Amino acid sequence: MDLQSFSAQLAGLRDRAVADVAHATTPQELESVEGSYLGRKGELRTLLGGIGSLPAEDRPRVGAMANPIREELEGTIAARKDRLRDIALEVRLAMEAIDVTLPGRPQWRGSLHPIRETEKEIARIFGQFGFVIYEGPEVETDELNFQLLNIPQDHPARDLWDTIYVKPAAGGTAAAAEDAAGAGAAAGEGGDGAEAAREETAPATAGRSRYLLRTHTSPGQIRVMRSSPPPIRALLPGRCFRYEQVDASHASEFFQVEGLMVDEGTTMATLRGLLDEFAHAMFGAHRPTRFRPGYYPFTEPSVAFDIQCVVCDGSGCPACSRTGWMTILGAGMVHPVVLRNGGIDPETHQGFAFGMGTDRITMLRYAIRDIRAFMANDLRFLERF
Ligand code: PHE
Repeated sequence: MDLQSFSAQLAGLRDRAVADVAHATTPQELESVEGSYLGRKGELRTLLGGIGSLPAEDRPRVGAMANPIREELEGTIAARKDRLRDIALEVRLAMEAIDVTLPGRPQWRGSLHPIRETEKEIARIFGQFGFVIYEGPEVETDELNFQLLNIPQDHPARDLWDTIYVKPAAGGTAAAAEDAAGAGAAAGEGGDGAEAAREETAPATAGRSRYLLRTHTSPGQIRVMRSSPPPIRALLPGRCFRYEQVDASHASEFFQVEGLMVDEGTTMATLRGLLDEFAHAMFGAHRPTRFRPGYYPFTEPSVAFDIQCVVCDGSGCPACSRTGWMTILGAGMVHPVVLRNGGIDPETHQGFAFGMGTDRITMLRYAIRDIRAFMANDLRFLERF
């Protein structure tokens, strides 16, 4: 090799290197280009390794030719490195750009169901008088839902509650299974004559552990009395079930709030005063109220508690059947038999209980016409609350 061809190769190497550097689009590519020309096993070194074949006086001149080229390439590579870094930043800025003119995405905010809202308001009002919340199960025994509330089996008062019975799970007792079979007939689910007959001839105690969906929150009265000694001020909200012909004012799944107070010297006057406070807090301070005689097997005496119609203020309209009054709950003094069933001596303690339909109270609060709206799961309805 002579000096001339050496210098030509050097020039060629420089041109290819400059072109390759310009084509490198990532730091990794640039690094490998750098390595392949300037690295320890790169082309420049390989070429310089060949100077041994040149005459000795030419060798320093080769060095003098090669060094500026190395420096030039190093400069080109450094410049390209900076440029690539700028490009990467530009790309990132472009990708992460936020268009502040775009409309925001709506934030989905949930809200409480209107029944819950009403429950909370009822609890707040009675809470001011020391009532605390208890909760009972939705699946109850016949004993708690009826018998201990002074409603024996086959008593006509049972017709007040159209009951949905529950078949016990496999492994339940034979007596319970037998009762459940009869219950099918009682609940109108079919069931043949033999089952109905068995129901009729079953001993009075056989249905004690029969399961049903509670028809009211009143079994909670027994549960509370048995779990805590008087004085008692309890509020029992919850879901109830009845085998109903469903229409705008009847649902087979609905809500009640039960109240129970047991103390020494509790009277109807205490009950009336408390319910007035409730009615005034819920429906307006000047709304007239009244007691009418009523009947429940577990209270004696029993009353219906009415408020003046919230639609017509007493002048008479379709909402109040032109009476000017609306019944918002049933109540009464706890029957001595029920007190005893709860483990309380009626000679020393008295009490009252009341039960209201949370759905109905909610409908009156918000002027809702159809009880079925609560369970229909229609967002257009639910979003109003
Ligand atoms: N449990 C009764 C019902 O569901 C309401 C009630 C409760 C009446 C407490 C009196 C006392 O109809």
